[in-house]
Amino acid sequence: MMPSISWFLLSCATAVFAQSFDPGDTKSPTQFDASKVGTNTSTNTTYSNPIMTANAGDPFMVYHEGWYLFTYSTNDNITLKRSRTLTDNWDLAETKLLFKPDPSSGDPWSTDLWAPEIHQIDNRWYIIFSATPDADSPHPLQDAMCPFECPAINHRMFVLESDGADPWTSKYSMKGMLNTFDQFAIDGTYFKHKNQLYHIYSCWENTYSAWPANLCITHLNNPWNVSSSLTQRRMISVPDQAWEQVPYGRAGRLATNEGPQQLTNPKTGQNFIIYSAARVNTPFYCLGMLELIGEDPMNYQDWRKHREGCVFHQNPDAGVFGTGHASYTTSPDGSENYVVYHAQTTDDPTPDLYRTVRTQKFTWNEDGTPNFPKALNGPFPVPSGQK
Ligand SMILES: *[C@@H]1O[C@H](CO)[C@@H](O)[C@H](O)[C@H]1NC(C)=O
Ligand SMILES: *[C@@H]1O[C@H](CO)[C@@H](O)[C@H](O)[C@H]1NC(C)=O
Ligand SMILES: *[C@@H]1O[C@H](CO)[C@@H](O)[C@H](O)[C@H]1NC(C)=O
Ligand SMILES: *[C@@H]1O[C@H](CO)[C@@H](O)[C@H](O)[C@H]1NC(C)=O
Repeated sequence: MMPSISWFLLSCATAVFAQSFDPGDTKSPTQFDASKVGTNTSTNTTYSNPIMTANAGDPFMVYHEGWYLFTYSTNDNITLKRSRTLTDNWDLAETKLLFKPDPSSGDPWSTDLWAPEIHQIDNRWYIIFSATPDADSPHPLQDAMCPFECPAINHRMFVLESDGADPWTSKYSMKGMLNTFDQFAIDGTYFKHKNQLYHIYSCWENTYSAWPANLCITHLNNPWNVSSSLTQRRMISVPDQAWEQVPYGRAGRLATNEGPQQLTNPKTGQNFIIYSAARVNTPFYCLGMLELIGEDPMNYQDWRKHREGCVFHQNPDAGVFGTGHASYTTSPDGSENYVVYHAQTTDDPTPDLYRTVRTQKFTWNEDGTPNFPKALNGPFPVPSGQK
């Protein structure tokens, strides 16, 4: 019965388990095999996930003039990497330090730097990131104002600006804080629509609410100046679905919407916000989707949530867990779309979660929504046009 045997082999081949790596295993620590990371250099025709094994959350990838530019959460500084190939081992890519605050300075941006992104706006490059002055240890009397512990209460959004048009050779300087009305703000991103610029970020309903974490939008005059007042700020998504509240099922505490990212369908022009839902340090962290169905992003009725569940999620069969905080890029020839995301290699992560960087091709559905693949390890064909 050859056909069924080859079918069996094929179906096994598609369920390649992730490299065995358990960051919590202190007895017999495991390591990634670097020869299986990213592009297979014996052929250069396939690649495997992960594409970077260093502990890196919140991957942000953008393609610009033949270079993939990549930044991610280091916690301590803003680091930029670049490579001409999306799938080569990013542990080995060229690295540049863009910003390193003094953690003892007490500056509002000095500790726990999270989720940096790099955006080109009007021929300058802007780094937008979240940070706090207190290493997520607020004064106990401030913490006591929240109904639950709220270590991240002093996180705010900051903007760095390049002094030139080249993202790699430019120097970056602090433009200041993005106004979030002195309330919690993390994972902020720029949303561009009809020549207007907006800030979409993970927010609380008020100064001390602590949870749920929602998505808020404000209008910007320029990449660092918010024109909306607090009463004009809008919440465009709250984690009101069961799958946004796992694993706890508590609509209040720990229910999370964060990591928003603009994704535009190049053919139809439809605008989506793909965001992360559920708890980051669990296998359930996944991607949810909002679509802008009206004209005004500041109008919460103009956004529609995809309520049927995550659009991209864990795949226990392949050993891929907690798939979240993604960004979007293309193959070098522009013909293919890629999602760049972080995931965990264990369903029982250590408290200081270990995330690696991964990428997969995605396509578009008939209705113009993104069609994300199952989270897999590969091998996959390298992106179209990759040399
Ligand atoms: C790389 O490709 C070669 C040739 O197809 C194959 O023998 C090898 O197993 C591949 N390595 C990985 C890590 O996939
Ligand atoms: C694959 O690409 C690497 C890096 O560009 C190069 O060093 C290597 O020789 C290539 N291998 C093949 C089989 O072309
Ligand atoms: C940036 O921070 C990371 C994480 O602490 C550290 O590994 C890296 O060495 C830092 N880079 C520089 C140039 O200090
Ligand atoms: C920032 O926006 C506010 C409110 O619209 C405005 O009054 C102020 O002039 C702006 N500042 C800069 C530097 O653009």
